[in-house]
Amino acid sequence: MEHFILFAGTANPGLAKAIAQQLNRPLGECVSERFPDGEVAVRLLNSVRQKSVFLIQSTSPPVNDHLVELLAFADACRRSAAARITAIIPYFGYARSDKRHGRREPITASMVAEVLEAVGIDRVVTLDLHAPQIEGFFRIPVDSLTAVPTLCEALRGRLPPDVVVVSPDTGRVQMATQYAQRLDTSVVVLHKQRKSGTETEVTRVVGDMGDRSCLIIDDMISTGGTLARSIEALLNAGARPDVTIAACAKLSHESIRAVFVTDTVATQATDWQQLQVVSITPLIAKAIQRFLSDGSISDLF
Ligand code: R5P
Repeated sequence: MEHFILFAGTANPGLAKAIAQQLNRPLGECVSERFPDGEVAVRLLNSVRQKSVFLIQSTSPPVNDHLVELLAFADACRRSAAARITAIIPYFGYARSDKRHGRREPITASMVAEVLEAVGIDRVVTLDLHAPQIEGFFRIPVDSLTAVPTLCEALRGRLPPDVVVVSPDTGRVQMATQYAQRLDTSVVVLHKQRKSGTETEVTRVVGDMGDRSCLIIDDMISTGGTLARSIEALLNAGARPDVTIAACAKLSHESIRAVFVTDTVATQATDWQQLQVVSITPLIAKAIQRFLSDGSISDLF
């Protein structure tokens, strides 16, 4: 496996290091700096000539900086004669901009896909894409792996026996069903309306929840508004104030038993007791091994 090299952007160095360790391979050396005016300046310190390059970079906040850094690394690899460039983007920023909600709006996720291709990226690997159709914005292969089995494994034995899986909006029903099948329970769906980028409202709770505990699942937690409104709606509808969350960032609420998130986005050190970070390192490392041996990865979806 001498023919490959891994590089980490600055978004999530801890995850990249863990993946490299699991593959028993040091990370490639590189520099990522900022010019005084904020422009990104990157440099590869190892040769990539005729190598398979894996660039590990979540396009998490600050999204634009991390995205441009990824593009710059990919451009550097292409101009340095890399044989193949795979972008491992555990958190895919702009995924929520996957359609037009009104006139004169962009579809930014599609624009990002075009730019990633334009700089010479040959394959994208990501996790639990916000909407499956985003794959269709690319002409290159996209592998959207899933953290659902990893999170279910972490949740198993730590949930009350009467738990019901809650989808916080209609977009997450398929994912909620996957959790429910694995955890052998049923699904409740909330009807969410987004008023703005920071404000949401739950207008209806669909499904039977009685006096049960809830596991709310989501692909991401940004402001935490969706989860906060979901918890309020569930409690108003009679749920037990014993809520577990499976997704990827931060929120605090007195009814919360635990928040399970993956490390797709780097989490700052915190004394928040309820937060449990579950690593997706083994999943990504396994995918890289399969790519290197031209093996199938279908069992990782
Ligand atoms: C929306 O469709 C997503 O799946 C998430 O529910 C949402 O983006 C979370 O954002 P926030 O935490 O700001 O409500």
